[in-house]
Amino acid sequence: MAPSHSTSIARCDAPGVMEGSSPGCLRKLYRHTRNQLHNAWLRGCLKHSGQGAFGCLAARLASWGTMPYHGRAFLAEMTPRGFVAPSAAISHPDLRLGKHVYIGDHVVISFLNGGGPLELQDQVQLYGDAFLQTGSGGRLRIGAGTHIQPGCHIHAILADITIGKQVEIAPGCGFYCYDHGIDPGVMIMEQPLKTKGGISVGDGAWLGHRVTVLQGVSIGAGAVIAAGSVVVHSIPDNAIAAGVPARVIRYRSAANDISKNESTPNTPT
Ligand SMILES: CC(C)(COP(=O)(O)OP(=O)(O)OC[C@H]1O[C@@H](n2cnc3c(N)ncnc32)[C@H](O)[C@@H]1OP(=O)(O)O)[C@@H](O)C(=O)NCCC(=O)NCCS
Repeated sequence: MAPSHSTSIARCDAPGVMEGSSPGCLRKLYRHTRNQLHNAWLRGCLKHSGQGAFGCLAARLASWGTMPYHGRAFLAEMTPRGFVAPSAAISHPDLRLGKHVYIGDHVVISFLNGGGPLELQDQVQLYGDAFLQTGSGGRLRIGAGTHIQPGCHIHAILADITIGKQVEIAPGCGFYCYDHGIDPGVMIMEQPLKTKGGISVGDGAWLGHRVTVLQGVSIGAGAVIAAGSVVVHSIPDNAIAAGVPARVIRYRSAANDISKNESTPNTPT
């Protein structure tokens, strides 16, 4: 026969059931009840959180005592409304939010004249100081489950930026699908903006720290862009690219490793 204390603990594990009254069991019941109450409190706050003064207060109460950065992303999972940090500055007439979206501290979402919709699909996470903008007909869509780490700038101006699902974008990355006019003899500030086309990033790609992606470029699904690279030409699916400008150094699949497929001029044959 099993020892009575282990039987008692096993029964305590079932939520809401308490068979026995050992101190360990009471502690478990206390913790369970406290967690239930805490979660109910969090859900209540999150239900009322938003951009107005009352919404900000509710968001502040929900995030009270949580750790910064990733430490409060769990709040977005608690209700389909997701979580918007009270310090985020959101001013966009056509912001489309999926479920469980996390918008962290000091994120800015803004709009320039004639900007198109800005869509953040389910479970997108935007971390501190990210800056997202649409303007002059540009549209921005970020696919489900994509993470944008702190300090990224994404400016869909004149053309579209489309980022796929479950893309990992490291801190400090920049996406610019326009240039200032640079004709001589006229102040650059006085010249109209122009574009060679939008930017797209395929599902499951990973961009390292401080990658810059310029106009008219597509980065393939599953591609990896090394830290500090500047992407000016399109990068194929599953390629690993590095440098300024970014060039393919190999592929994630060993079969496609270009270092093995290319003949090297200095290698004796
Ligand atoms: C792209 C990356 C994953 C490649 O890693 P790896 O497969 O171990 O590659 P290696 O270190 O073997 O380097 C392969 C070649 O690419 C070059 N390279 C690697 N990273 C580079 C970079 N950021 N810029 C320029 N060249 C780079 C290496 O010098 C090496 O060239 P060589 O063979 O002529 O010496 C890695 O270099 C990287 O940039 N990681 C991003 C880290 C990051 O930003 N993390 C943020 C957390 S989200």
